[in-house]
Amino acid sequence: MIVAVDGPTASGKGTIARALAAHYGLPHLDTGLLYRAVGRQCALNGGNPDDAGDALAACSFADSLLDDPELRSEASGGLASRVSIHPPVRQALYERQRAFATQAGGAVLDGRDIASVIAPEAEAKLFVTASVAARAERRFLEMQGQDRAVSLEAITADLAARDERDRTRKDAPLVVAEGALVIDTSDLKREEAIAAAIAAVDAMA
Ligand code: C5P
Repeated sequence: MIVAVDGPTASGKGTIARALAAHYGLPHLDTGLLYRAVGRQCALNGGNPDDAGDALAACSFADSLLDDPELRSEASGGLASRVSIHPPVRQALYERQRAFATQAGGAVLDGRDIASVIAPEAEAKLFVTASVAARAERRFLEMQGQDRAVSLEAITADLAARDERDRTRKDAPLVVAEGALVIDTSDLKREEAIAAAIAAVDAMA
């Protein structure tokens, strides 16, 4: 069984994807981390994330970079959203995601285009979303827990900018794929969101 979990940043899709993977005993891939690694590698190379050539060169990052805690930062998220616009970058990361999705026994992948591009044949497709205010608040609390000095206003503005880039890019924009079930987590507690996701997957698969 392939489970595709798509949605905007800080919607709760990562939490839901990890919980589904544990529940069904499937391996999980956070595809956003791959784009974050490209963005971070591009910065380490001194490249320009808005330049397709520089961004493509950064796709040959070392796997060890995926363990770098810096990838979780807002800065890396912003860089990821810029490098992910370039079609050659998406192409370079496609095979890796496709191979993970089609491994024997199945998998859970979370991202932006899993149900639309990477694994359109997925048995279960979820689109996890939440209001900008709810997502900004969560991200703010998370950052405070890490002692990172950021304002709620800055996070809100950054989220809105990334949403806009993800939704309007030509190649693989963030869309609710055909057959996907939408889960709005704005007013759901973590356990409620997970229960809703499991019920949805059980009904689809
Ligand atoms: O999900 P996360 O916030 O880690 O993703 C970071 C950025 O990577 C997103 O804003 C998006 O631009 C890009 N991304 C993507 N396709 C995916 C996963 C992430 O374009 N499948």
